[in-house]
Amino acid sequence: MEGVSREIRLVARPAGLPGEDLFEVAETPVPEPREGQLLIRNAYFSVDPYMRPRMNDVRSYVAPFTLGEAMTGGAVGQVAASRHASFADGDWVVHNLGWREWALSEGSVVRRIDPEIAPVSTALGVLGMPGFTAYYGLFELGQPQPGETVFVSGAAGAVGSAAGQMAKIAGCRVVGSAGSAEKLEWLAELGFDAVFDYRSHPVRDSLAAAAPEGVDVYFDNVAGDHLEAAIGQMRPYGRIVACGSISRYNALEPAAGPRNLFMVVTKRLRMHGYIITDHYDRFPEFLEKARRWVREDRLRYRETIIDGIEDAPAALLGLFRGENVGKMLVKVGPAPSPEPTLAAAPGAQL
Ligand SMILES: NC(=O)c1ccc[n+]([C@@H]2O[C@H](COP(=O)([O-])OP(=O)(O)OC[C@H]3O[C@@H](n4cnc5c(N)ncnc54)[C@H](OP(=O)(O)O)[C@@H]3O)[C@@H](O)[C@H]2O)c1
Repeated sequence: MEGVSREIRLVARPAGLPGEDLFEVAETPVPEPREGQLLIRNAYFSVDPYMRPRMNDVRSYVAPFTLGEAMTGGAVGQVAASRHASFADGDWVVHNLGWREWALSEGSVVRRIDPEIAPVSTALGVLGMPGFTAYYGLFELGQPQPGETVFVSGAAGAVGSAAGQMAKIAGCRVVGSAGSAEKLEWLAELGFDAVFDYRSHPVRDSLAAAAPEGVDVYFDNVAGDHLEAAIGQMRPYGRIVACGSISRYNALEPAAGPRNLFMVVTKRLRMHGYIITDHYDRFPEFLEKARRWVREDRLRYRETIIDGIEDAPAALLGLFRGENVGKMLVKVGPAPSPEPTLAAAPGAQL
């Protein structure tokens, strides 16, 4: 295939909050698929908080980005040329080859998606990894029971908005925190019972007011003061789902605390961390339920779509300024057409 493929590379490691100067847009020739390979033209990149820790040169559950190479991560695209037995030209796929306009794949860790039943971008959000993270963390680790109170931090993000709505589906009272009035308004529309802006008052006070009877399940996307406040407000035998620590991802030094950790002992709390990629055997079960909930309008979603590959670094940094409502995506290449709208397709087998 003739032409140029642009990609985003990390060229230097950050100290604290990164700047856009750590990234470059590089050009490479569009690759030619050999026997057993497929060439994918990307339509959307996923922009995820975990990409920030991957910019550091530290060993973790996932390897750091290699300097001078295209950043890997979730993306959705269309097969432009297939020489792989399991994929045909025109198939829509979700894959992990990341922030490049064209991707060459051997076909492993590539999943076909059906563009007729949901917008393809949802495979990176509510019907993809973030939705699955909410589902597994809430139901498997949080074990919410009807009538219990669930607190979700980062509630207007991709994972948090799904976790809160799933807690409503489980019959719980749901409290959410987020960083702007617009976000709180959306959470109220989604059916959250109480919401607060964590920037306006100490989290401890806002949570005590929003959940005066206490919290049974805390779905933690943020850590820091949110975690300490939640521990203080948990009821005996409460469960803390340790999903993420976004308040700490740009920190130069590890933080002390929570200062009230002894309450985990006295209240007999359970705190369980997880990495969703360990649990993909449960993905089909999630997808079946999530598609049904979306079709029934019980699981809604929003996307913040940044147009153009050059703005992908700004989109990543925007996560730390709270610039996204729902899932943060970057759109590259031509728009998939026609995009189905879920609401307009009541009979669709989502
Ligand atoms: N365990 C796993 O396998 C797994 C998988 C996926 C994601 N995660 C974690 O889940 C969390 C949410 O991920 P996501 O993809 O859904 O991202 P997201 O919530 O859609 O986007 C990040 C949001 O975090 C909030 N935020 C940023 N800095 C903050 C701070 N200092 N304090 C409080 N809130 C802050 C911002 O919203 P506000 O305007 O509300 O501040 C921002 O919109 C992250 O911690 C992520 O690392 C874990």
